[in-house]
Amino acid sequence: MGRKHLLGLEGITKAEMEEIFHAADAFSEFLKRPLRKLPTLRGKTILNMFFEPSTRTQASFDLAAKRLSADTVSVSKRGSAVEKGETLLDTLKNIEAMRVDAVVIRHSAPGAPHFLARHTQASVINAGDGAHEHPTQALLDIYTMLKEFGDVSGKRVLIVGDVLHSRVARSDVFGLKAWGAQVTLAGPPTLVPKEFESLGVKVTWDLDSALPEADVVMALRIQRERMGKGFYPSVREYRRYWGITRERARLMKPDALLMHPGPVNWEVELDPEATEEVKTVILEQVTNGVAVRMAVFYLLLAGGGEPKIEG
Ligand code: CP
Repeated sequence: MGRKHLLGLEGITKAEMEEIFHAADAFSEFLKRPLRKLPTLRGKTILNMFFEPSTRTQASFDLAAKRLSADTVSVSKRGSAVEKGETLLDTLKNIEAMRVDAVVIRHSAPGAPHFLARHTQASVINAGDGAHEHPTQALLDIYTMLKEFGDVSGKRVLIVGDVLHSRVARSDVFGLKAWGAQVTLAGPPTLVPKEFESLGVKVTWDLDSALPEADVVMALRIQRERMGKGFYPSVREYRRYWGITRERARLMKPDALLMHPGPVNWEVELDPEATEEVKTVILEQVTNGVAVRMAVFYLLLAGGGEPKIEG
């Protein structure tokens, strides 16, 4: 891949993503086998540092590392010396002194992975930094779209909801734009300000008019933990105007995809009934995430080339 770190998708090229997805295809096929362990990263050690809650990303990185036979170590805020006031850099330097090859980090501070990358010999992978970027989530989102459509160039992707606080949306925009997709952001003006058009996307505050145009609708989680009051009047009002309900799902094209990066606030940004109306690939996103993260580890730590899978 020609990179040491994966810190974000800003500036990524289609060719780089194609290389990741080519490797992910090989791992995706491999993961369908009953015995799912390759020796590729035997002897390598991967540190998972999750300083914000996670289910999907943490488990997915851990599984991806183990499927490739890497050793893994986990550090979280709770129970680590961070609770005693140790800085992020000191934490990293102490772990690095035990010689790790890669660090996967989730942190509330935008830029935390970039900061670490300047101070370590290890490869750094951003697993979500504040509201900034979540590159592997966007890669698995785009990979899932590719699996469904064959290509996403020219496809219309509608991202709905709390874009302001969404690192997923930002990474998706960078990746999808590099692929040639047309991205529209929809939500209340407080969460989807017009200024986002500077990213080369369309902004709309009229969800019902945008839904019939979209090939993909990606609902985003309302990130209550990152916002104070005043972004929307109430959860009920939010669902009424911006929730993907059964009625709204019926406005979508019959062959459009419904996606969500998870975790879902059911009956807020997305109703369970909506998933009965259109093709919904939320769990396929999760499945594809393991293969995509195996590909990222492989390209950063094993030097790239064609993955060697026997049998
Ligand atoms: N999509 C995602 O980042 O989920 P987690 O917060 O569970 O990792």
